[in-house]
Amino acid sequence: MESKSLASTLFLFFLLFGTLAASPTLKSKPHPRHPLPCKRLVFYFHDIVYNGKNSKNATAAIVGSPAWGNKTILAGKSHFGNVVVFDDPITLDNNLHSTPVGRAQGFYLYDKKDIFTAWLGFSFVFNSTQHKGSINFAGADPLMNKTRDISVIGGTGDFFMTRGIATLMTDAFEGEVYFRLKVDIKLYECW
Ligand SMILES: *[C@@H]1O[C@H](CO)[C@@H](O)[C@H](O)[C@H]1NC(C)=O
Ligand SMILES: *[C@@H]1O[C@H](CO)[C@@H](O)[C@H](O)[C@H]1NC(C)=O
Ligand SMILES: *[C@@H]1O[C@H](CO)[C@@H](O)[C@H](O)[C@H]1NC(C)=O
Ligand SMILES: *[C@@H]1O[C@H](CO)[C@@H](O)[C@H](O)[C@H]1NC(C)=O
Repeated sequence: MESKSLASTLFLFFLLFGTLAASPTLKSKPHPRHPLPCKRLVFYFHDIVYNGKNSKNATAAIVGSPAWGNKTILAGKSHFGNVVVFDDPITLDNNLHSTPVGRAQGFYLYDKKDIFTAWLGFSFVFNSTQHKGSINFAGADPLMNKTRDISVIGGTGDFFMTRGIATLMTDAFEGEVYFRLKVDIKLYECW
């Protein structure tokens, strides 16, 4: 009785694991290490942070500050704790005064005391003849790096369900009031 049930257990064991090992559906498909993007887009966006004097031009405002700072000037300690909300024009070239093709809308927050680094969450919102819909971005932005990659986590409209990587480059900056980012968007999922 005992040995019979042991034998059947062993039989089941080998049957199960033999099947698992041989099953092609459980093996992961080989993934190309660097797939080619299905779509690539390059844009610039321009961030003018309110500093108490530029309310006409400002496209961004400090909405959160640590206790040692205020909401007019970015705080010391690498701006740690500041949260900035923005509604920035997106242009096809690096000229702030070019006709915008959409708006970059969202926030960044500074999240390290000893170096400048931020976390970004924003959307590109398009409503032009070229593009309609949005692309959503999120990720860490070690902004002292020449280039840094953030995730494209989704999209709507022309960018329905998209995913990919956006490489950010600081194209220009003027003190702590203006900066311009170049965004090289590589989409790996297009519908
Ligand atoms: C606002 O924009 C105008 C036009 O580009 C520019 O002449 C002016 O210097 C800007 N003002 C501030 C405070 O940045
Ligand atoms: C905000 O903080 C800056 C820098 O710490 C300081 O120079 C400025 O006077 C402060 N402004 C206000 C309105 O408290
Ligand atoms: C997009 O633009 C069209 C035409 O200008 C306008 O009718 C529509 O309300 C806009 N949609 C959004 C979401 O801004
Ligand atoms: C940022 O730059 C540093 C030094 O150049 C490098 O070691 C690091 O991998 C970079 N990080 C990212 C996220 O690009």
